[in-house]
Amino acid sequence: MQIRLDKFLADAGIGTRSEVKNLIKRKAVTINGICVAKPEMKVTPDADEVAVNGNLVTMRGSVTYMLHKPAGYVCAVKDDRFPTVMELVPQNRDLFPVGRLDKDTEGLLLITNDGGMAHRMLSPHRHVDKTYLAVLDHPAEKAYITLFSAGVDIGDETPTLPARLMICDGESPELDYLPKEYRIYAGSGRVALLTIHEGRYHQVKRMFHAVGNEVLYLKRLSFGSLVLPLSLKKGEAICVELPKPEMFLKRP
Ligand code: URA
Repeated sequence: MQIRLDKFLADAGIGTRSEVKNLIKRKAVTINGICVAKPEMKVTPDADEVAVNGNLVTMRGSVTYMLHKPAGYVCAVKDDRFPTVMELVPQNRDLFPVGRLDKDTEGLLLITNDGGMAHRMLSPHRHVDKTYLAVLDHPAEKAYITLFSAGVDIGDETPTLPARLMICDGESPELDYLPKEYRIYAGSGRVALLTIHEGRYHQVKRMFHAVGNEVLYLKRLSFGSLVLPLSLKKGEAICVELPKPEMFLKRP
């Protein structure tokens, strides 16, 4: 969506429409580093970097992106060693990742500037569902379904909450999310969907490890009611509308 530069600046709280027009005419405003003198210039708030006297303008109001996180990126605002997921979304909105995926995990990651929403999604009391697609080192045993549904000891103070495991057969639609190199495992019992309601450190990998298996590849397909669109390519992000808070109430 594009909006006029003077409206963008006024909406961002920089001043009244006539004050920001003056600023623009005095050449105090840049779009993507280029000085602009016309208030009617169009900006794309999610893509353009607008600065006043060299200071980046942050839009007021909340925004949330759904990113298809690629492997190799860390979920942090800053990191000295690795690229961060923040490099994959617009830089001018005080954004932060909602929770973490491991560096080698792909899939749905929310990035927001809405602290309340992040809290609702991550609160241990709300038990928001997260579904992961996992490729395993060897075929999943049916017994895992019962073990996971009872909760497993992964070395923490308490066992995990009950989780739902589905072992994918060769027809499972979720196989479409697998990268090409893993499609050979379709129907082998080595691809599984696990839905958990917590967000413990390395939880999925530790759960499979606890039952004697290992995760070779991991992708998050959904978070609460949000599902990763198949059309969203790795590294791409889209703006999302979050469901109303009632959607995150604790399950019975
Ligand atoms: N569980 C894991 O083991 N890793 C992730 O990145 C997310 C959940």
